[in-house]
Amino acid sequence: MPLESRNNFFYKILLPLLILTLAFFLSPSSSRLNLILSHLTPQTTTVKMSSSPYAKELLIAQLSIQRASILTKRVFQESSKGTISKSDASPVTIGDFGAQALIISALKHNFPSDQIVAEEEASTLRNDPLLSSKIWDLVKSTSLSSSPEAESLLGGQIPSESKMLDLIDSGNSSGGRTGRIWTIDPIDGTKGFLRGGQYAVCLALLEDGDVKVGAIACPNLPVDDSAPLTADIGDGEGRGVIFSAVKGQGATSRPLTTGDLAEGKQISMKPITEMSAASFCESVEAGHSNQSESARIAEKLGITRPSVRMDSQAKYGSIARGAGDIYLRLPTSKTYQEKIWDHAGGDLIVREAGGEVTDTKGNRLDFGVGRTLASNSGVIAAPKAVHAQVLDVVQEVLGLKN
Ligand SMILES: *[C@@H]1O[C@H](CO)[C@@H](O)[C@H](O)[C@H]1NC(C)=O
Ligand SMILES: *[C@@H]1O[C@H](CO)[C@@H](O)[C@H](O)[C@H]1NC(C)=O
Repeated sequence: MPLESRNNFFYKILLPLLILTLAFFLSPSSSRLNLILSHLTPQTTTVKMSSSPYAKELLIAQLSIQRASILTKRVFQESSKGTISKSDASPVTIGDFGAQALIISALKHNFPSDQIVAEEEASTLRNDPLLSSKIWDLVKSTSLSSSPEAESLLGGQIPSESKMLDLIDSGNSSGGRTGRIWTIDPIDGTKGFLRGGQYAVCLALLEDGDVKVGAIACPNLPVDDSAPLTADIGDGEGRGVIFSAVKGQGATSRPLTTGDLAEGKQISMKPITEMSAASFCESVEAGHSNQSESARIAEKLGITRPSVRMDSQAKYGSIARGAGDIYLRLPTSKTYQEKIWDHAGGDLIVREAGGEVTDTKGNRLDFGVGRTLASNSGVIAAPKAVHAQVLDVVQEVLGLKN
């Protein structure tokens, strides 16, 4: 071998090999594995799944509400453009059924033996073929189109319209204290959806009555966790966020996408140093929470800012990321029972972000008694450090103290 090519051989082949081998044996085993893997597998933005508990459940939950949100956004935009006319079925109805079908399909594909408690059932659709086919048109043309891999994780398309109706009907579990039960609200905040305000696509997993995974997609909330809490409206640029949590693993937020999950960020409630500077969130609908009582509670706490009114579990997500501080839902009727799908995800997300959630009696929300929160009355969500103080004033104003 001539000297020159021997040099070439050394510099171009032997030396790099030597360095790689050295690096390989000096690096800790996990990064060594990554080094090998990174050479064996192409660098794509693959759907990531960690090995922590409930990692698969969390991933499927997030992807399935992300896909369902693509459908609700289409309905939202078409109805605001007038493409879905007033004489048609309500856009909420169309969005509700469509989103529920997509979510249940993903759950059945991944967790076939889990039970499901969902808001809708398909009997109205079975009696209204026109409405059913309209929903089917939407469902079959909605996918996580920018990631075939994510789409196939959810089982891909639903094969037929009749299968879609069966899927919608399989959310009829009566809930309860044992086993794995998913609970779905395909469009939480229907009034908000109609007026172009906040709504949410919500999913949670209960295991033996305890919330283990919660995921809430809010297509009309700002992506930015530090954006001020406002009651404004719209689905423009910079909007669309998923909140999620796994019990014991904290809470995160991430932008909604049309394919793989975006990178998530840890969120936490804002510590309240001055009660007077705190902000309240409550329902827009006066029928959901007693607004005159919450105004008295705010006054007694020394809170001066006007409360921010928004629909849906967007309130739980907003306080969990510190955009608001306290969420009150004060019973307006002695007999109304809150539905588990309206609270399960939000309850976990707020608690994992450093909050406490109870009813007006100070009891934790009990998701194990059926499809409703039959043993609770109202909801008080606040940072852990001030929850007792808020509860105390709530009970005073509601006359619950003896
Ligand atoms: C749910 O519906 C299926 C049929 O669609 C039925 O077999 C099952 O008994 C129902 N479950 C409950 C709890 O009603
Ligand atoms: C709100 O509470 C007040 C006082 O407790 C009561 O008079 C009023 O009827 C309540 N409003 C609703 C909508 O429940």
